[in-house]
Amino acid sequence: MSTLVIYFSFNGNTKYLADTIADTISADSIELKTSKQYPTEGLKKFLWGGKSVLFGEEPALLNAPMDVNKYETIIIGTPVWAGSFAPPVKSFLSQYNLHGKRIALFASHGGGGAEKCFAKLKKAIPDNEFIGEIAFVDPKKNPKDNSAKVIAWAKSLSN
Ligand SMILES: Cc1cc2nc3c(=O)[nH]c(=O)nc-3n(C[C@H](O)[C@H](O)[C@H](O)COP(=O)(O)O)c2cc1C
Repeated sequence: MSTLVIYFSFNGNTKYLADTIADTISADSIELKTSKQYPTEGLKKFLWGGKSVLFGEEPALLNAPMDVNKYETIIIGTPVWAGSFAPPVKSFLSQYNLHGKRIALFASHGGGGAEKCFAKLKKAIPDNEFIGEIAFVDPKKNPKDNSAKVIAWAKSLSN
């Protein structure tokens, strides 16, 4: 069964989860990259990123074209931005019409909004089977506590 982990990460937390999941189940993994540069420091990053979500932006992806058809399972990861998923994930979902897939969702957040984020993701790609979802609070800060949890979750997806 072929599985793709696809994710965006701004500060490395979602990437930490994605790397752990892909290693655990030997999945292919692709990090979404954009030409749009968000400010990386201080309040500016929240203002620009939040505005980008609210305006429904779909920043251009720098990734090479992907063959999503070859994957039965797609595991999508995002940081929670303004109670939603990050704009590069929106770009991916618009560009690749996912249907008939097994989909799992994971997110990293600062303390709230993951449920809303998952609900919006599911609404964006309705014609799929959702097999799991999990959220972590800034997991990179605490890898010891989080790695067992994310590994167990990744393994549960193939059951
Ligand atoms: C633009 C922006 C908006 C954010 N909005 C939220 C939010 O609504 N709720 C929340 O809990 N965390 C929010 N955060 C914090 C991130 O979700 C959190 O730090 C996450 O772990 C970052 O993942 P990353 O390191 O993969 O980028 C926001 C961060 C940014 C930059």
